[in-house]
Amino acid sequence: MCGIFGYIGNRNDAGKLVIEGLKHLEYRGYDSWGIAIKEEGNSILLEKDIGKISEVDSNNFTMQSNLAIAHTRWATHGGVTKENAHPHICEDCSIAVVHNGIIENYEELREELKQKGYDFKSQTDSEVIPHLIQEELKNTNDFAQAVRSACKRFKGRYGLLAMDLNSKTLVAARTGSPLIIGVKKDTGYFIASDIPAFMEHTKVVQYLDDGEMVVTNGESILFTDIETGEEHPKREIEITWSIEKAQKGEFDHFMLKEIMEQKDSIARAVNQNEQQIKKLGEAIRNSKGTFLVGCGTAHKACMVAEYFFSVVAQEHVNVTSAGEFKLYNHFLTSESLLIVVSQSGETADVLEAMKIAKSKGAKVLAIINSEGSTIAREADDTLLINAGPERAVASTKALTGQMAVLMLIAYSMKNKLKEGKMLLLETTSLINDMLNPRYIKFIEEVAENMKDESDLYIIGKSWNFPMALESAIKIQEVSYVHAEGFAGSELKHGPIALVEKGTPCITLAGDDEIFPDIISNTIELKARGANTIGVSPIQSDAFDTWIKVPNAGVAQAIVNIIPIQVLAYYLAVKRGMNPDMPRNLAKSVTVK
Ligand code: G6P
Repeated sequence: MCGIFGYIGNRNDAGKLVIEGLKHLEYRGYDSWGIAIKEEGNSILLEKDIGKISEVDSNNFTMQSNLAIAHTRWATHGGVTKENAHPHICEDCSIAVVHNGIIENYEELREELKQKGYDFKSQTDSEVIPHLIQEELKNTNDFAQAVRSACKRFKGRYGLLAMDLNSKTLVAARTGSPLIIGVKKDTGYFIASDIPAFMEHTKVVQYLDDGEMVVTNGESILFTDIETGEEHPKREIEITWSIEKAQKGEFDHFMLKEIMEQKDSIARAVNQNEQQIKKLGEAIRNSKGTFLVGCGTAHKACMVAEYFFSVVAQEHVNVTSAGEFKLYNHFLTSESLLIVVSQSGETADVLEAMKIAKSKGAKVLAIINSEGSTIAREADDTLLINAGPERAVASTKALTGQMAVLMLIAYSMKNKLKEGKMLLLETTSLINDMLNPRYIKFIEEVAENMKDESDLYIIGKSWNFPMALESAIKIQEVSYVHAEGFAGSELKHGPIALVEKGTPCITLAGDDEIFPDIISNTIELKARGANTIGVSPIQSDAFDTWIKVPNAGVAQAIVNIIPIQVLAYYLAVKRGMNPDMPRNLAKSVTVK
């Protein structure tokens, strides 16, 4: 949460450059923004406001400058106000700081600094950072040392950028929240929470690891350990993502673009190194207890996988949300296996689950989309789903990629990897046919008919049950319609009391042995006056509206969620919402 971006080098348009780059990080937070620019004459121009960074005109920041930092905020401590927006500056206005994360001991530090005469202008935890750095500068002339000493006093998680007018340097430090350095020879250094900020300038990156800091004057860069000051050598890595894949192209929103990309992204997920898939399958087989965790949509992928492991591999795995993993630690031994699933590779609760597992000596495997992310680097082994950059807050193509990879692992455990691959590739081509303009139009019409409803329910059984939960997430988060998912069989135990005449109820079904059961549940809804919508390969009289999907067997969950993603998208658009930027949400949840 929160996006940060800074530049130092020999370009003289640092202000405009960081505003433009920051717009690519808007998915990380979009309630307010701010920028600090080192102007000619060595002063800081500070500008911040509430509102979206995408609406800021970068042409307002064309003043000559080779050093600037900027921030797009997702509020944690302190409401959404101009004062609480970053950057925060020190008393003599020579230091500006942007911060992502939470300084947990900020109240204590704030009190201490207030006693020393520092004046606080915001309610944020972050404002202690520039003041504490300034205080530390009383003991040293070295700006980087002062940042180091300040960092040693912080408890909590942070990724921070601090710029200093006196030394004309930019310092970045991280514990918990991601920071990546883009390197462009003879041009300078770009430091951001995520790669899209600087992808148009360079694809050569260096990752800042937890407990590390970096100082640069724009010509050279030095990585050190925050605690010891020891120098850390860093490799330069060339990333493979293309700029086109990270942009909207012909689509109005990233969400629709990413939904439509699934015909290719699932195939990319399937195109895995077979040995690697088998290795993961063997690790599950050999473990004395496998735990599968993720958050939000990734957690729903884990829930579907539980059925894959049961039906295809006859292997028991334990699934829980990463945020609920803490008390599972009593089940963990050095022979346990934790598999984490995450699109961003930065989710705080997932990192916490990894820490718990590692403290018990358990092995950690990660199924990730973002190359080089913290989770990818901290896991014992990683499998990339290769979905390409996912920018919309609502996860779509990452989910289907995660499910595809998990399904392959289940097949590999039965020595049927080829069969699994074939099924998934056939499914990809069925999805390709399904996502034709007529089909999309049809779902848009379903959304039009539903757009004024305030409540909506979704039911499914087996792997369609987690997809019912995921459908509810998708609809809630982008359209703000109250949506809830249930297991079909649970209806009679409470939820059916909510159904009134005309309530839209969606049934997710497959052409399988449980089809009659889910149809019975649908009939029960219809009998209470529900307006029933079936997402199913087969028609039924129980459906008032039928959204036809191809029959995909074990891969049915992957297929069934796609029309719901389209429906959620159009519900949002028709209700006047921006599906790429749902209120109160952020794509990468780096706080617990
Ligand atoms: C946020 C996003 C969701 C995502 C979840 C987990 O809530 O909005 O789309 O599913 O975090 O994120 P991860 O990056 O770990 O998959």
